[in-house]
Amino acid sequence: MQAIVLVGGEGTRLRPLTYGTPKPMVPIVNVPFLARTLERLYEAGIRDVILPAGYMPGAITEYFGDGSRLGMKITYVIEEVPLGTAGAVKNVEEHITGPFFVLNGDVLTSLDLTAMMRYHGEKGGLGALHLIKVDDPSAFGCVVHDAAGRITRFVEKPPKGSEPTDEVNAGTYLLERAVLDLIPPGRNVSIERETFPRLLAEGYSLYAYTTADYWIDLGRPEHYLQAHRDMLTGAMPFRLDASESAVAAGGAGIVPPVHLGAGVSIDPSATVGPHVVLGPGCRIGRNAVVKGSVLWEGVIVGDGAVIDQSIVASRSSIGAGASIGAGSVIGHDMVIAPGSFVEPGSRRGPAAPVVSG
Ligand code: GTP
Repeated sequence: MQAIVLVGGEGTRLRPLTYGTPKPMVPIVNVPFLARTLERLYEAGIRDVILPAGYMPGAITEYFGDGSRLGMKITYVIEEVPLGTAGAVKNVEEHITGPFFVLNGDVLTSLDLTAMMRYHGEKGGLGALHLIKVDDPSAFGCVVHDAAGRITRFVEKPPKGSEPTDEVNAGTYLLERAVLDLIPPGRNVSIERETFPRLLAEGYSLYAYTTADYWIDLGRPEHYLQAHRDMLTGAMPFRLDASESAVAAGGAGIVPPVHLGAGVSIDPSATVGPHVVLGPGCRIGRNAVVKGSVLWEGVIVGDGAVIDQSIVASRSSIGAGASIGAGSVIGHDMVIAPGSFVEPGSRRGPAAPVVSG
């Protein structure tokens, strides 16, 4: 079995974080998100992965190389212009030899891929789509199916109150190779808006694989923070990097759950937690307070600074006595002046990408 992980999006909703780091490389509890996805594929016995990329692909290729470090074979196909979620799949056609998974690169889920393979084997048809039930389906692609699981309709982001179902497309598909014949080449094509509806219209069958798994789309800062809370509390299981520590008991000023990268230093008078992840080499000064936040590597927090429910990207420095209001996102290499007040919900970063290729 092969897998295509879609990693070519610009991640506009995560800006300014994605100005310095492409979304698949954004750290989730200090490990690039894509590494966690590849781990899941490996656990399902998948060793052959194709990555259609396009936005800052260099950061991805440098980290994963040919995949041998993970015991996998990784093939990169770089798009000159974004081809969309189905166009990207069509564009890697020559590498696909049989049935294959397609994974949205920004979904964090506990979905058991092996069980999904079994389900597809039982149901047949051209593919199986992972669905989950959500409280507010109006923000998602709703998928309607019959009692046997056969999909009958796709309704993209229906107005509130008119949703036909609470089951939505969760961004993992298991498809037969024949699907590739139904995607037009050389242009931008959306798999959810164009290809799947077309399959149904032409009489092919797709099956719904609905599970109650943990599932979150990391595309928005608030979801990114939520995912961290869920991992720290155990709602979403994850594996630790060997060099790091989950601080379960709590030390001086540490309010669990907290996760610390290698080489972090925290002044004993500071308060860190609950629900905090500190990247490798972060330094937290005297009487500083960090709660409900994720700091990437090398972030410096000055004496008496306060960071509340926010994300701070690599190497940024928060001046002494500064206050970062809830819901803020601070990009890479930013300097927040001592004593300044960053309004809740602020985004501070460069005006455009700072890393190319
Ligand atoms: P936003 O700009 O914030 O919407 O994020 P995004 O660009 O990642 O788009 P979206 O979240 O809708 O994408 C879902 C998944 O498909 C992500 O894993 C993207 O990386 C990927 N993706 C979206 N468009 C393309 C594309 O044109 N080419 C490739 N290769 N991947 C894509």
